[in-house]
Amino acid sequence: MRYSYALPLLSLAKLASGATTAAAPPQWNFVQNGTSGVLALEAMFVSPTLAIFFDRASNDPLMVDGHAAWGALWNIETNTATALNVVSDTFCASGGFLSNGTMVSVGGHIPANPAAIDGRMAIRIFEPCADPAGTNCTLFEDPENLHLEETRWYPSSLRIFDGSLMVVGGIHERTPFYNVDPVNNFEFFPPKDGGVPRPSAFLERSLPANLFPRSFALPDGRVLMIANNQTIIYDIEKNTETILPDVPNGVRVTNPFDGTATLLPLSPPDFIPEVLVCGGTTTSDQIQPANLSSQDPATSQCSRMTITEEGIKKGWEVEHMLEPRIMPEMIIIPNGDVVIVNGGRTGYAAFDTVKDPIGNQSNADHPVFTPSLYTPSAPLGKRISNKGMPTTNIARLYHSTASLTPLGNILIAGSNPNGEVVNGTEFGTEFRVEYLNPPFMSMERPIMSNVPTKIGFNQRFNIAVNIPKNLKATSIKVALMDLGFSSHAFHSSSRLVFMEAQLSPDRKTLSVLSPPNNRVYPPGPAFIFLTVDDVTSTGAHVMVGNGLPPPVADQGIKL
Ligand SMILES: *[C@@H]1O[C@H](CO)[C@@H](O)[C@H](O)[C@H]1NC(C)=O
Ligand SMILES: *[C@@H]1O[C@H](CO)[C@@H](O)[C@H](O)[C@H]1NC(C)=O
Ligand SMILES: *[C@@H]1O[C@H](CO)[C@@H](O)[C@H](O)[C@H]1NC(C)=O
Ligand SMILES: *[C@@H]1O[C@H](CO)[C@@H](O)[C@H](O)[C@H]1NC(C)=O
Ligand SMILES: *[C@@H]1O[C@H](CO)[C@@H](O)[C@H](O)[C@H]1NC(C)=O
Ligand SMILES: *[C@@H]1O[C@H](CO)[C@@H](O)[C@H](O)[C@H]1NC(C)=O
Ligand SMILES: *[C@@H]1O[C@H](CO)[C@@H](O)[C@H](O)[C@H]1NC(C)=O
Repeated sequence: MRYSYALPLLSLAKLASGATTAAAPPQWNFVQNGTSGVLALEAMFVSPTLAIFFDRASNDPLMVDGHAAWGALWNIETNTATALNVVSDTFCASGGFLSNGTMVSVGGHIPANPAAIDGRMAIRIFEPCADPAGTNCTLFEDPENLHLEETRWYPSSLRIFDGSLMVVGGIHERTPFYNVDPVNNFEFFPPKDGGVPRPSAFLERSLPANLFPRSFALPDGRVLMIANNQTIIYDIEKNTETILPDVPNGVRVTNPFDGTATLLPLSPPDFIPEVLVCGGTTTSDQIQPANLSSQDPATSQCSRMTITEEGIKKGWEVEHMLEPRIMPEMIIIPNGDVVIVNGGRTGYAAFDTVKDPIGNQSNADHPVFTPSLYTPSAPLGKRISNKGMPTTNIARLYHSTASLTPLGNILIAGSNPNGEVVNGTEFGTEFRVEYLNPPFMSMERPIMSNVPTKIGFNQRFNIAVNIPKNLKATSIKVALMDLGFSSHAFHSSSRLVFMEAQLSPDRKTLSVLSPPNNRVYPPGPAFIFLTVDDVTSTGAHVMVGNGLPPPVADQGIKL
């Protein structure tokens, strides 16, 4: 059986146990539905119904304006892709929302397809899209007048406390593997410092395996960055860096040695940040790619650190996934757990560079087909499990994406460890879109109504709720989430902030307190999810903050 659908499992359980026994509870399951039209090398939800997918300007099957498209809107109501007309090459770009809800895609590459123009300095604007099907929603580019200060391929980005996008690092020109033509600086959109990029000693130190630096907005407004095996806190307001302990045991976690990293959920009243880094490799970054192999083992190591003075003194706490993974993805889900999916047991990111390529050009092999669940609150050694998790047969290696959807399940797409769209070989270009469904997707779920469409900081507001009768409501969690921008085993700006919430005795009203200020949740769009006894509602789309264009002033109260 290729996918474990909930329904057949249920009927089997019924048959086996006799008609009088209650049906087995719903399980996690994979469902494949639809094809992405363009390779989903980057993915980001831009509305309650639509995700944007970007590939490189290549030979994708979806057409626009008489040529192959490299951008598309994916509709989760119909599971179909509609082409977007993109001007510049989006290959290995980054992106995120601003405080006014506009999505900005930054950076890219020199196109192989002549229909595109050089995207390395690109700033692409996607304004808030109200139509559920995306009709009339387009990407705006004005390369002459609106562009980055530097050419950037493989940068990452994050929304910061004033609602701007910070753009981090990258490489100027195509090089096959390591970052040997680095952009060792940061810039912002809208620009700060009169548009002059800020040099970064950290980016210089972390060469040559520091592409797509894993960067997070801390709840005090500073930025945590992890690249190669190094970690810093960067203070945007003081322009200073503080060096934190290296990721232990020689593990390296950024491209082309992609592990993944996430900020764990932030909880009231103190919103103490903790970061989790999983996968990657212990390979030295001094070995030429020709002497590396697709069969070199990845690492199973996860490292976790609390980003407080005391936590940093304690250093990284080490635990292990059930298998080694290069290029894993970590998706925070609304109950505060983290789903680990995708990646391979051996090899590296990138393509066509190491020994023993698989299929056409894959640098990685032995895909992991079974997700794991990481429970942050469980004791060390008991946090990672794949019990009850389904197994797929679709490999998701280099150039894959994953995101929580506004419905509460996980979209998984992409995989193309090849230089263009290739077909009919092992690890060929993967267009099949899959969903990883938590058990609650096939249960009666809590329903929220009258959710405000805009909330301020440190503000109490009410949500009308309808909670299924069978739920005892012993646990109530209200999550405010940025679903992030997925690319290269990282989810830029992805975030979960729990909000203090009280359920009325009649179980019909939730009183919720929004995050204290714009540093705990950088101002911009979010989804609110309600989880009652581990059964999660669909997400409600909300604007957090004053909704003004960046830079916005500090709002709310100081912690
Ligand atoms: C695929 O998605 C379409 C549109 O939402 C839906 O009608 C169909 O039932 C889905 N198929 C499966 C196998 O889930
Ligand atoms: C799209 O734009 C056209 C032309 O301006 C307009 O007639 C139409 O109503 C728009 N459709 C939607 C769904 O916004
Ligand atoms: C991190 O990498 C550098 C450069 O390869 C190395 O000197 C250092 O020992 C590494 N740190 C750890 C903790 O392994
Ligand atoms: C690969 O390793 C061999 C020795 O094991 C060395 O002679 C050769 O120069 C190396 N090649 C590269 C490209 O690093
Ligand atoms: C990979 O596929 C491309 C396009 O089909 C082809 O031109 C190329 O020769 C292939 N490379 C290898 C190593 O198979
Ligand atoms: C892959 O090959 C199949 C069978 O030849 C063909 O139908 C399909 O269109 C091809 N896909 C792409 C993306 O080239
Ligand atoms: C949001 O701000 C950006 C940057 O100033 C601007 O380009 C964009 O048009 C604004 N969008 C809206 C909807 O105000």
